[in-house]
Amino acid sequence: MSSRIPLPYNPKIIELFRNPKNMGPMKDATITAIAGSPACGDMISLYLKIEKRNNEDVVVNATFESYGCAANIAAASILTEMIKGKSVKEAWMISWRDIADELGGLPVIKYHCSILAVGALRRAIRDYYKKMKVHPDWLPRDLTVEEKQTFEEEKMMEHLRKMRESMVKYK
Ligand code: FES
Repeated sequence: MSSRIPLPYNPKIIELFRNPKNMGPMKDATITAIAGSPACGDMISLYLKIEKRNNEDVVVNATFESYGCAANIAAASILTEMIKGKSVKEAWMISWRDIADELGGLPVIKYHCSILAVGALRRAIRDYYKKMKVHPDWLPRDLTVEEKQTFEEEKMMEHLRKMRESMVKYK
């Protein structure tokens, strides 16, 4: 018998984990961003199709690939639903808490899954404007909390990966 206690996921998370929306790569994406570490597991690839509509940049399509847990898949899935049809500026404003709320709540130890999803989105948006060589006035110069935390997590994953590798070497 397993001694692990199942996490209190609500039915919406379980449903999105089983039947995620917008999953898979996008061939004609305008921009793609990865957050997390492929070497260590938790990771999101986000694909955005951005078009100009009435002089505004609009996310006309969004898909994702996830190599994380159930909450990560559900967070990425709901994020793609939330940003489709929104201006890039509106998409930028979405916080990890908005995602958690939209999911009907996340267990505390799963907050980072939603932070990773927002980290991927904001990285994609920054990369898009870098590519366009413009900096809209609403885009902060400094990294936001979600972006900083995503970086921290990536550094930690990389550190753990190196530690694991050196342990294997000296076995
Ligand atoms: Fe790391 Fe969910 S993505 S636990």
